[in-house]
Amino acid sequence: MTNRRLVLKTACAAGATALASSPLSTWAQSGTVKVGLIFTMTGPFASTGKQLEAGARHFLRENGDTFGGKKIELVIRDDAGQPDQAKRIAQELIVNDKVQVLGGFSLTPLALSVAPIATQSKTPSVVFVAATSSVIDASPYFIRSSFTLPQVTIGVAEWAPKNGIKSVVSLVSDYGPGLDAESAFKERFMLNGGTIKAAIRVPLRNPDFAPYLQKVRDEKPDAVFVFLPAGVGSLFMKQFSERGLDKAGIRLIATGDVTEDDILNEMGDVALGVVTSHHYSAMHPSAANKKFVESFKKANGGKRPNYMAVAAYDGMRVIANALKSTKGETGDALLNAMKGQTFESPRGPVLINGQTRDIVQDVYIRRVERVGGELYNVEFETLKAVQDPGRNH
Ligand code: PHB
Repeated sequence: MTNRRLVLKTACAAGATALASSPLSTWAQSGTVKVGLIFTMTGPFASTGKQLEAGARHFLRENGDTFGGKKIELVIRDDAGQPDQAKRIAQELIVNDKVQVLGGFSLTPLALSVAPIATQSKTPSVVFVAATSSVIDASPYFIRSSFTLPQVTIGVAEWAPKNGIKSVVSLVSDYGPGLDAESAFKERFMLNGGTIKAAIRVPLRNPDFAPYLQKVRDEKPDAVFVFLPAGVGSLFMKQFSERGLDKAGIRLIATGDVTEDDILNEMGDVALGVVTSHHYSAMHPSAANKKFVESFKKANGGKRPNYMAVAAYDGMRVIANALKSTKGETGDALLNAMKGQTFESPRGPVLINGQTRDIVQDVYIRRVERVGGELYNVEFETLKAVQDPGRNH
């Protein structure tokens, strides 16, 4: 058995003790801070890893890599979308690579499997994606730089009944964020006089939407409200148009996960007019965003940043700002310095709420339009400083 494997085996066997006793303070004295990033780089959700890695690297490219006297060294690993793998990698990163900060976690189950490791080892961990409301409660060492599903769902749930949509069938991925979206939509839509005709849940992995879309058609709602995680939207759009739902007069409303910026152009005309609510559009009309989109595209072969890239970019900023204010100290001091930060993100102004450790941000209502020959989510209404409403239920 190699020494590395032996260390890991010992760490796994001893669990909390081994993780808690890793010599973090010794490492914190060197001139480097190691940040372990766990992304999904292979399998059906690989597009998320590409955007996340590009966003994280872009932050360091634009801002330099040294903060509070410490040089940030990224250690990036692929979890292949598998919770067991994410957990094992988190353990290895802490015990073998001696990382002092963790980040990443593209799907909720991945963040949940890493949570006990973050807690036992007292490692500040920035959730770049996992957007189920309760994820933040899974570890006191979690800080979230992305969004929550209830936070981005209530906007479209309020917009719909004011715009001629009185009955809806909801269709969501059958796991944490989908269930959050389903219940947040239902509650807010019904409060505003709407009716839910059916609530459909589709499998997260390898979904075939055809039978579910047939059920939507049969129900004849004014609209279908959809949440699907990043990477699945274009397949859904294709099947939505193949089943003729658009021609049957059923409108499509969604969270912005479905019309994500980097694949929106591939979806084609069927996406035109789709109304979504979300916290980031590549078309967000601020000087900070224009600069971000231009420089990101330049550095990434013309690829557009989506909300994943922005969350990783801002996640790295949270880490960098915290290092600046602790003058390079890690551990609990770094965690505390992550709380309460405010800054202007490419998405707009944001706050990391010091009590909840969750992000507070503007949420926009957007419509897919053609601008200069390309499809964009064009923002037309803003809900200011939205907290996650999910945990107040
Ligand atoms: C999640 O699994 O929490 C998740 C992933 C991708 C999204 C939204 C939520 O776009």
